[in-house]
Amino acid sequence: MCGIVGATSERRVSDILLEGLKRLEYRGYDSAGLAIIDKNQKLQITRRIGKVQELANAIEASPLDGTTGIAHTRWATHGGVTEANAHPHLSDNEIAVVHNGIIENHETLREQLQALGYVFNSQTDTEVIAHLIHHERKTHGDLLTAVKATARQLEGAYGAVVMDTRNPERLVVARSGSPLVIGVGIGENFVASDQLALLPITRKFIYLEEGDVADINRTNISIFDQNDQPVERQVVESESSYDAGGKGQYRHYMLKEIYEQPIAVRNTLEGRIANDTVLDDAFGKGASELLKTIKHVKIIACGTSYHAGMVASYWLESLANVSCSVEIASEFRYRKSYVRPSSLLVTISQSGETADTLAALRLSKELGYNGSLTICNVATSSMVRESDLAFMTRAGTEIGVASTKAFTTQLTGLLMLTVALGKYQGMSKQQQSAIVSALQTLPTKLEESVSLADELEKLAHEFANKEHSIFLGRGNQYPIAMEGALKLKEISYIHAEAYASGELKHGPLALIDDDMPVIVVAPNNELLEKLKSNVEEVRARGSLMYVFADKNAQFKNDDTLNVLNVCHCDEIIAPIVYTVPLQLLSYYVALVKGTDVDQPRNLAKSVTVE
Ligand code: F6R
Repeated sequence: MCGIVGATSERRVSDILLEGLKRLEYRGYDSAGLAIIDKNQKLQITRRIGKVQELANAIEASPLDGTTGIAHTRWATHGGVTEANAHPHLSDNEIAVVHNGIIENHETLREQLQALGYVFNSQTDTEVIAHLIHHERKTHGDLLTAVKATARQLEGAYGAVVMDTRNPERLVVARSGSPLVIGVGIGENFVASDQLALLPITRKFIYLEEGDVADINRTNISIFDQNDQPVERQVVESESSYDAGGKGQYRHYMLKEIYEQPIAVRNTLEGRIANDTVLDDAFGKGASELLKTIKHVKIIACGTSYHAGMVASYWLESLANVSCSVEIASEFRYRKSYVRPSSLLVTISQSGETADTLAALRLSKELGYNGSLTICNVATSSMVRESDLAFMTRAGTEIGVASTKAFTTQLTGLLMLTVALGKYQGMSKQQQSAIVSALQTLPTKLEESVSLADELEKLAHEFANKEHSIFLGRGNQYPIAMEGALKLKEISYIHAEAYASGELKHGPLALIDDDMPVIVVAPNNELLEKLKSNVEEVRARGSLMYVFADKNAQFKNDDTLNVLNVCHCDEIIAPIVYTVPLQLLSYYVALVKGTDVDQPRNLAKSVTVE
């Protein structure tokens, strides 16, 4: 999704802005632009379609020299991918704006502004903001007042940064529904949509809240809340590592992040287990008060995080005696739902900023839940700040668009939640201890899973020329099959569908022929024999099968059956262990196909618009 960087300094800012944009590339984008105010108080702007490197090349050829500037990577929503639609957008060559989000009433505003004589050069909703600020500044004379007046007229979501040639050392920013963080420097200040963009230049951050407007110059930051009252927001020292932006020895972030899973899970468990059980405080200080009231869990999430929620529903119902339903956030937020008494609303989100999940969390506050918990990877995100409880997944920054370590750490957190809730619902000490022991073996089991990489690299060549594929799983491995299919389609662009194996004969079996590879996730659990029958059903129809099975499951390799032996593990943690070979398969297939693994086409890392 779009990225924003802004800076006001004594030094030339274009390099800082370009570096910031590069660090936000992982979010997904299709064009980029940068504007500065030069020493003659004139706006200079360069925009390019494609990669930030194109923009950097253009700026190298024709440098932009100025000490205050804004930059943006755009992920098209309103209007095609053209240079004219790329940000920043200008009004009268005096006001420049970069914006993340969607302005829902942009058409009405556009008509009003056109009637006032404003001429539009793009199809974007953002240009409306630029002209509106320009118009309001004529009335109020001052940029800050003009931005506040504009914000009051905008419907929808925005994180916006504004420059004005009449105030050449000033940035005014506004946040509503799209995150913005101020980076505090010494004699210089910055702004970005994600702190990662600013880590090389500062570690001190102010996270703006919903409705905030901030007035920033080199030495001063003034913030006004949604009621236009001056507020002090805390300056937080970031612990994120500067290197989170680097690929290290790996060819892609995705591969690096797959390999980081054992350590990410180890970090997620650390300090949260004692006396053979899970500490309630892992979910937030004083979490016991809420957790002990809970008899039903409603999980809301999108994409990969939704799959984590689906696995959790199997765990919660079978192990914790807590009923659980899971729903896609974009569905939940627009329907009338029934809330069972004693319910906990759980959101799962790597970024903590996904627009639909955040909207669902906000909606839930009016619906009568006992409270809310988020399972999240970004401590400073909106979801963490707005939930009653938060479990931090400690995966470290995830850059690859395809979620890997965030998913396995979410699952780890959800299995811990199963224990935390289960103990108030009669889960025996013995069972708590059994789950905890299984969790403690996870880092080692994940290391064994990752070591299958070479085998999967070989296997990948057989997939690269396929156009379709089917993934099968049963029980809590059905969502893992869904996650495997999602990974394959998003990075290799091979069409992949997942089915609960028992569903095959109710329709999908018609798709099976010798050109349709079928991938089966088959740990050694009580459903193994049933799964074996499903495998035979498919084999009898000529399909080529790939079975990811426990060493002891006794599948035999032959012409039509490729068996990949996954390490033996406790069946409770099998969904987490079996995820890794599926991630590796997708990665290597994408590599053979030569796709853009870390930034697959049309996708964004953090989906902050609806
Ligand atoms: C797929 C993927 C997405 C995200 C989804 C939700 O690999 O990463 O499906 O899981 O966009 O994002 P978060 O977890 O940030 O809410």
